[in-house]
Amino acid sequence: MKAVVVENYDKIDGISIREIETPGLASGHVRVKVGAAAVGFVDGLKVQGLYQTKDPLPFIPGTEFAGTVDAVAGDVTAFKPGMPVVGMARSGALAEYISVPSAALKSLPPQIPFEAGASFQANYLTGLYALEARASLQPGEILLVLGAAGGVGIAAVQIGKLMGARVIAAASTAEKRDFAARYGADHTIDYTKADWRDTLKEMTGGHGPDVIYDPVGGEVSLQAFRSIAWRGRHLVVGFAAGSIPALAFNLPLLKGGALLGVDLAQIQRREPETHTRLIAQLFNWLASGQLQPVVGKVVPFEDFREAFETMQSRSALGKMIVKFG
Ligand SMILES: NC(=O)c1ccc[n+]([C@@H]2O[C@H](COP(=O)([O-])OP(=O)(O)OC[C@H]3O[C@@H](n4cnc5c(N)ncnc54)[C@H](OP(=O)(O)O)[C@@H]3O)[C@@H](O)[C@H]2O)c1
Repeated sequence: MKAVVVENYDKIDGISIREIETPGLASGHVRVKVGAAAVGFVDGLKVQGLYQTKDPLPFIPGTEFAGTVDAVAGDVTAFKPGMPVVGMARSGALAEYISVPSAALKSLPPQIPFEAGASFQANYLTGLYALEARASLQPGEILLVLGAAGGVGIAAVQIGKLMGARVIAAASTAEKRDFAARYGADHTIDYTKADWRDTLKEMTGGHGPDVIYDPVGGEVSLQAFRSIAWRGRHLVVGFAAGSIPALAFNLPLLKGGALLGVDLAQIQRREPETHTRLIAQLFNWLASGQLQPVVGKVVPFEDFREAFETMQSRSALGKMIVKFG
């Protein structure tokens, strides 16, 4: 089969498509013919060796995918060849086939295209866990989403709307703000402007955001927290801007506010019941059409590099998708 293989961490040119052996089927495993795989910020860091954990070289990048079951091990009963599925793996999704434990897969409702399926789980589970399980976002509350046109940002915009919040999307370009408005944001704001906190104050009638969803970090996080409403909750999701802000402890005191950490990687292990409940909620929304995952730019498999380059140039809208076949 063909697969994207990272052979060194020097530069993006060190990643190429190679012909390698199709993965076999260990006990409990399912082999999926990949239809689409997603490329997010973390994948961009991983192929450069910049993520907190380094995959041993060589490796196949890609952690989220959707496709069709190709074959199942003899002891697997939940899946049959031909079924559409979505899955998550530690790596290996940017390949024509991937073999994963059956527990890593979910059935994909047949009406959902692979591109939407591959964009779905990580970003929307992060958003729902943050907004529901951590911040207890209430209908009518004001939600400010930073980096709102990015992969996790746009998912939070949609979930915030589904939960009945008034959503303010903050992004750096007019194109990104329009994109966030198209997916439901009630207001948009340019947080690169020096006076953006004044605009935010006006927009919220002096109240400030009740909940801040923050995958960006850096100076903008500190500015946002200074604008938070009384008893506001600031969700720490990521640091796409590169630097980890240091908040003075007097600010949460003065605001009656809270900083709440969000880590998708730990939810299943530490809060299995919450994880099961939220996944069920997301798949119900997906099957009923209430939630239509945003598909960012779709590139053919041969042009996979474009997906990484777009991620790394801060120009992605939603999650990048690599499509097979
Ligand atoms: N906590 C979790 O469980 C979890 C789960 C998934 C992802 N994450 C983290 O969330 C963050 C965002 O991931 P993503 O996949 O949504 O990334 P993304 O699609 O690239 O979006 C990130 C957004 O951050 C903003 N940004 C500000 N400064 C930036 C810079 N110097 N470089 C790049 N982007 C910058 C950009 O919006 P503007 O141009 O509008 O400023 C961009 O749209 C990452 O740090 C990722 O590791 C965390």
